[in-house]
Parts: sequence; structure tokens; C-alpha cells
Amino acid sequence: VQVIRIGVLGCGNVGAALVDLVRTQADTVEQRTGLRLEIAQVAVRNMSAQRDVDLADGVLTRDAQSLVTDPNIDLVVEAIGGIEPARGYILDALKHGKPVVTANKELLANCGAELYAAADAAERDLLFEAAVAGGIPIVRALRESLHGEPITRVMGIINGTTNFILTKMTDAVLGGGDGDYAATLAEAQALGYAERDPTADVEGYDAGAKAAIIATVAFGAKVVAGDVYHEGISRVSGSEISIADRLGYCIKLLGIVERDAESHEVSVRVHPTMVPKEHPLASVRDSFNAVFVEGDFADSLMFFGRGAGGAPTASAVFGDVLDAAINLRRETHGSLGVLHEAKLRPIDETEAEYLLGL
Ligand code: HSE
Repeated sequence: VQVIRIGVLGCGNVGAALVDLVRTQADTVEQRTGLRLEIAQVAVRNMSAQRDVDLADGVLTRDAQSLVTDPNIDLVVEAIGGIEPARGYILDALKHGKPVVTANKELLANCGAELYAAADAAERDLLFEAAVAGGIPIVRALRESLHGEPITRVMGIINGTTNFILTKMTDAVLGGGDGDYAATLAEAQALGYAERDPTADVEGYDAGAKAAIIATVAFGAKVVAGDVYHEGISRVSGSEISIADRLGYCIKLLGIVERDAESHEVSVRVHPTMVPKEHPLASVRDSFNAVFVEGDFADSLMFFGRGAGGAPTASAVFGDVLDAAINLRRETHGSLGVLHEAKLRPIDETEAEYLLGL
């Protein structure tokens, strides 16, 4: 049995759920793979914070920098979020020969190309399934199963908060109410579905970062968050929902990435879209996420599930940890391959296609 000693940066919802998952699955993983996964260290900012996780003595540390360079750590999970210091820790861990698993969409959507190149140079894995749509295995599907597929378009409901709000507004309108945006947002905040500062979700920044990552993985193009045209849901009104309904549509916030087969131009955008009620994306309610992939040969595929939350996100992280551990033993690693500069098709409000055909 080969022991894989995991260092985790951060112990929020995702870090804590991951620790739990490693513990509960360690025996099964060992039987199936001959690898023994162990949480060796967990780096946190505040050692005395209340945590819903049971860690052995000496596992908690405040010294993230030593964790990423420690020769006794085989693999690093980055679950702190944000750009710095996460970026520096990941680069250091790779330089020290450790595969890295991250759920950090903001970092990948801004500095992805640099990090993927660093992973290739270090000949180590950099895996990030959890960065897009939480527990839905869309990154691996695009990166592996569909990597030979001529993908034409990917459309996703990739923000649970806004899907929840739009679902509640729609239910209210169909029940004879007015489906007021502000009141529904307040309700979502009271239920804990929306953050106190909801900007990143409701204005489409969160979905935009995920769309940039999807475009990079699907098309091998360097797309960053700043390239994404985005418009959120704060201007969607109950009366628009009502009109859409009468015409046979529902309103969804979609992240859409497309590539023109001839010009190879890529467009990446997030905006409210009228989705025909018969389209599979129309059935995605509440805080669920779904990603709809269209390819020339595979035709249409839809991936559905939980896009957020500690446990589903940790499930995606854990799958990556296991893959990285298996690759480490085989002395191999995955790669996104050569990324090219994206030929971006500029989008503006008049070009954004607010109406989806079937
Ligand atoms: N705030 C995000 C959402 C969480 O609502 O989907 C995952 O990025």
C-alpha cells in the first residue's frame, strides 16, 4: 500500500467536507486502488475557529507556505479561494513536485493559462473539476470524454443563486403574484441561498468566471473572466417573465460559450435568456445547475446536479484527488494541451441572443 499524504489549504465548508470524505472513503479507496489517502496537514488562518470537523492532533497548521514545500506532503488541495495568496501557493506546490487540486474559479478564470503552463512544466496534475458547477463532472467530461468532439456550443445554468431567484419569481408570476425581483432576492437572502452582498451572483460575475473556464477547456482557447460579456438578473421583472411564459418560454440566466466552425471565433457571454419550455434547460429549477453541450458528432448532452455546497463540491475535489494520486503513482499527469490565443467575437447588448431556439 502506498500512502498519499494530502495537504489541504483552507478548512471552510469544502475543506471540512473533503476531510470527512477522505476519512469515510479511505478503506474503500485502499481496497480498490492500493492507495491509502491521508489528511496530513490542514492550513488555516485562525487555529481556534469553531470547525465541524474532527482532525488528529498536529494536523492543523497556520503555516500554509511550509505545507506547500514540505517534502512529506505528496499532494495539495487549495480550498481558500481568491487570487492571492492561492496563486503563489499553487505555483510553489507545483514547483515542489506536488500535484494540485483546486476549486478556485476566480483564480483559474484570471490566471489559468499561467497555472496550466506551470503544471505542464512541473509535469504534475492541476485538476479543477470543482471550479465549475460544483458536483457536476463537466470539466472532466469536456477535458477527457469529449476532447475529440467538435464542440459548437456549451450553455449552462451555472449559478444556483440566480436560478433559485428566477424560479421563485416565475412560480410567483404563474401563481398570480407580481414576482418582484427585490422581494425575491430578500427572501433568498433570508433563506441563505443568496449572499448578503449578492453582486457576484446576481450580476453574472460568478457565472462569467465559470463560462471563461468552460471556454478554455472546451476550445483550448485562452479566455479570461474579463473577456466575458455579462448581464445579470437584477433587471428581470415579473412582467417580462409573464410575457415570456405566454410566448412559451421561461427566463434563465445562461452562460453561453460558442465557437464558429469556420472563423474559429469564440464568444463567451452570460445573460438572461428566453429558453423554450420544451428545452431540457427549462426543467432545471431552484438552485440546481445544468450544462448543455452541443457537438457536431455527439449531438446534445446535458449534465445536471448540484453546483454548490460543501458536500457536492468536496465530491468533485475528491475525485480529482484520487485521479491525481493514481497519476502520481504511475508517474504521469494530465494536461490541457497547448492553449491558443482566443479570437474573441465581441458581444454587445444588441448582439446578445436573448432568445434561444430549440
Ligand atoms: N454562488 C455560487 C452559486 C456558488 O450560486 O452557484 C458556486 O460558485
